Amino acid sequence: MKADKSDILTCLRNSEDYVSGQQLCDRLGVSRTAVWKVINQLKEEGYQIESVPSRGYRLVESPADAYSESEIVSRLHTKWAGQRLVFFESTGSTNPDAKGFAEEGAPHGTTVVADRQTAGRGRRGRSWESPAGKSIYFTIVIRPSFAPDKASMITLVMALSVAEAIHEVTGLHTGIKWPNDIVVNGKKVVGILTEMSMTPEMNEIQFLVAGVGVNVNQEGAEAFPEELRKTATSLKMESGQSIDRAKLLARILERFEEDYDVFAQALTLSALKERYETRLVGRNAVVRVLDPAGEYTGISRGVTDTGELIVERETGETVLVYAGEVSVRGLYGYV
Ligand code: BTN
Repeated sequence: MKADKSDILTCLRNSEDYVSGQQLCDRLGVSRTAVWKVINQLKEEGYQIESVPSRGYRLVESPADAYSESEIVSRLHTKWAGQRLVFFESTGSTNPDAKGFAEEGAPHGTTVVADRQTAGRGRRGRSWESPAGKSIYFTIVIRPSFAPDKASMITLVMALSVAEAIHEVTGLHTGIKWPNDIVVNGKKVVGILTEMSMTPEMNEIQFLVAGVGVNVNQEGAEAFPEELRKTATSLKMESGQSIDRAKLLARILERFEEDYDVFAQALTLSALKERYETRLVGRNAVVRVLDPAGEYTGISRGVTDTGELIVERETGETVLVYAGEVSVRGLYGYV
């Protein structure tokens, strides 16, 4: 039987000490030759693996910014998020890919990752610039057992998970621009596009896909299209360091799994709201609500348990702003 690269990399990564060839064979149920072949393959890909006769193998270092299915999977400690992971070097957009897999019955948590997208999609029909080797683009399939009116909260849950994972991995302070853009120093680093598929009777959710784009290692404003240069940035531009995409993606999936499970227990954001609000950009500050039915100004006071933005209008009236076609801006620019 063929040995699986992700399995071998996972065993090596999770072991503090050498792992003997025999241990790998026993754990994975494959022959010594199969193990040896995969170890050589990994070495050819740039993995530094020390082989010591009578002790076994030890992973010394991964190649810089290794980004592949096995690299991501070997870093994942989840029960369902990313447990089935499909990696493309290049694809049109991971959102339709994930929908396609979901339609074929892919389980909850199936994740599609791409190094590059040729037709990356943003919200409101915009495109999402998706060059190779720089960013994270992934979409996760969610199979909820709740009613469609709860679905919009998933995007807020994802925003919280991604914002905290970025903070943990890079040390950067991440803010959430309601409902789900993530900003660092006033500029956008993450966009989330959630789409829902309903049952033919249109009364239940068949599945949701949550697509996330993180600007990671772009080196300067020139990396972004002209019209985004004032409002977009990358984690590298803000931290001055190259960020390991596989490590960050694994951490995002781990956090999302935890947060989603908390949300799914209550079907409200009650247990996550406090964390979300500490990152909410413009809280207790004046915001302008760009409602197509009429723009207005007010003070943002936080979010409700179901994810609406609470805005105190100048008239004294408190209104709940529903995500969707409404945008909220600070008075001075994008945030
Ligand atoms: C936004 O406009 O802010 C949402 C951007 C969402 C981009 C991600 S990248 C992965 C997934 N695939 C896509 O084509 N879009 C989402």
